[in-house]
Amino acid sequence: MNMNKNSITNNKGISTLAVHGGETPDPQTGASSPNIVMSSTYVVDQPTSFSVTNMDDDTPYVYTRWANPTIRQLERKLCLLENAESCLACASGMSASSGVLFGLLNSGDHLIISESNYPGTAEISRQLLPKNGIDVTPVDTSNPENIKNAMRDNTRMIWIETPSNPLVKLTDIHAASRIAGEANALLAVDSTFASPVVTRPLELGADIVIHSLTKYIGGHGDAIGGAVLASRQITSEIIGGGMLHHGGAISPFNAWLIMRGAATLPLRMRTHQENAMQVAKFLESHPNVELVRYPGLASHPQHELAKKQMNNFSGMITFRTASPQSYAKRMMNDLEIVHYAVSLGHHRSLVFLLETDDLISSSYKLDGKLEREYREIAGQGVFRLSVGLEDAEDIIHDLDRVLG
Ligand SMILES: Cc1ncc(COP(=O)(O)O)c(C=O)c1O
Repeated sequence: MNMNKNSITNNKGISTLAVHGGETPDPQTGASSPNIVMSSTYVVDQPTSFSVTNMDDDTPYVYTRWANPTIRQLERKLCLLENAESCLACASGMSASSGVLFGLLNSGDHLIISESNYPGTAEISRQLLPKNGIDVTPVDTSNPENIKNAMRDNTRMIWIETPSNPLVKLTDIHAASRIAGEANALLAVDSTFASPVVTRPLELGADIVIHSLTKYIGGHGDAIGGAVLASRQITSEIIGGGMLHHGGAISPFNAWLIMRGAATLPLRMRTHQENAMQVAKFLESHPNVELVRYPGLASHPQHELAKKQMNNFSGMITFRTASPQSYAKRMMNDLEIVHYAVSLGHHRSLVFLLETDDLISSSYKLDGKLEREYREIAGQGVFRLSVGLEDAEDIIHDLDRVLG
């Protein structure tokens, strides 16, 4: 949706945009908090096209899977936060990713994608895209030279996740965008681990940003949602490529919850970072921890890039121990504060073991050099820790008890 009708404009600070962006008091009642419009359909008073491809911003609401006033307010807020022209909010991060991949790639196209990333995205790209005649090359995008070397005449898209799942690797967005631009390819960035407070990929040259709103932007672990942000031309192409017909509409109630969560995103990201820095330092000094990856630590191999590309180091830490399965069992049984659970970016701290054999065989399908390099960092498996908003000393105490 074109966002020219915002209540406030993007010359405001990010905290102001997070609170007010996209929202307007209800014109009938003056209600300050956005209304939740749950209606699936709308009474129309003029002839209306029955095709989503003919919609524009002035098209009256017709059907909530196409557009809805509450969802539109969320889309406007996200546009302001990411400095994007257009946003499509949808049912989940995976709905956003598949909307982009299936909407923009056609048979005969080539996709370059990070060798390790969110497993759902890895599975779509490795298993489903080739069935549609799309060639996929996984490369370690943390080195832009690898992207350059993998480019082909038919490369239509480069997909990166930065910081990445689960190894917290970074990709230089500006460098990747230059490579994409020279080849007339699109750069898509899954920025879920970052959030717009940390990095705004479109300002660094990316063409498309993907978010799982389920994570930092929603922030409270109670609503699944996703979003694609790009130019209006690209989001129209994604709609034309079937995104709304695939049916992944976000519930207006979830859109409302995520909008409420997003209002405190800058505030939360400050505490996520502060806590994560303390926890990362604790883990780094712990004798039973073999490796810690956190972009804010000087020991992170891309700390310099992190300082350049991230306004805040976010709250995601990866660490490795010997015998990870036995530590995972202790965590399941003995953690008091940190939940042993998947997902991330919530106010609660979450930790989960991502076992290497499982990921390599089911999601990443890596072999040769890429597999060796993955195993060198991940060993038998890594713990992905999403540091929450509890008191840092309580999180540390909880982890210390289970790490022995
Ligand atoms: C980086 C990243 N992208 C996409 C997704 C998928 O999001 P969702 O679970 O909202 O579909 C996730 C989920 O963990 C993720 O971590």
